[in-house]
Amino acid sequence: MTAPILEIRHLTHSYPDGNSGIFDISLSVSRGEFIILAGKNGSGKTTLIRHLNGLLQPQSGEIKLHGKNISKNLILTRRTVGMVFQDADTQIVGDTVFDEVAFGPENLNLGRAHINEKVSMVLEQLDLTRLKDRNPATLSGGEKRKLAIAGILAMDPEIIIFDEPFANLDHPGTQSLLTTISDLNKNGQTIIMATHDVETLMAKASRLVIMARGRLVEDGSVGDLIKKLERHGIKAPCACRMEAKAHPWQT
Ligand SMILES: Nc1ncnc2c1ncn2[C@@H]1O[C@H](COP(=O)(O)OP(=O)(O)O)[C@@H](O)[C@H]1O
Ligand SMILES: [Mg+2]
Repeated sequence: MTAPILEIRHLTHSYPDGNSGIFDISLSVSRGEFIILAGKNGSGKTTLIRHLNGLLQPQSGEIKLHGKNISKNLILTRRTVGMVFQDADTQIVGDTVFDEVAFGPENLNLGRAHINEKVSMVLEQLDLTRLKDRNPATLSGGEKRKLAIAGILAMDPEIIIFDEPFANLDHPGTQSLLTTISDLNKNGQTIIMATHDVETLMAKASRLVIMARGRLVEDGSVGDLIKKLERHGIKAPCACRMEAKAHPWQT
């Protein structure tokens, strides 16, 4: 096994009431993994992932990127660990789809030709080329979320983290986004997805990590943990529930 890209050790961050936050989280992320970070609302998923690119500082514990504490180089961390938030639509700053994707590379002071080439490549990869001159405000919810991913991809991140990526998307929007993300993973992109909706993602992910009350309570393969979802307040996939109903005498 290769050395982990990201290592979280004994991470704790409690909010002022003292009972909520995240407590003693340890987790290693290796190249090419597709991790579902599952947990019911309030279990601490967003708090955990906001630490992973330095948006929140640990109160105790540490986070290492390639063996170095992330707070030592936040600029590098934010390039390496890309975040797509649930409210990605509100992060849009460009007048056109092309400009929006160019925004990140421009801030890295790359040359114009290099930026244009990179942006065109990413738009092509996410099937957004036909929308490149559109005002981002006129895009559908699913297209806006793809645009947010394009903006992150243009920075060549090693890990992309999604917070509830399917929130407010209809079924076609969800399926299209899922295919996009799964294709990225097939091409080697490391992915972490925080969600309370495991069913949509389970066929694509390699690993399932479950949080409850701010703690990491399970970490294993999707197949092994699927039967434990409901005890942590997460909806189990339909097939699991049907099996339980069809053979109640076996449970
Ligand atoms: N800024 C904040 N101030 C105080 N409490 C917060 C704040 N953000 C989150 N919390 C609390 O921390 C816990 C974990 O929240 P969060 O990380 O948002 O969970 P999730 O993303 O799994 O829904 C919840 O009890 C929530 O109410
Ligand atoms: Mg959340």
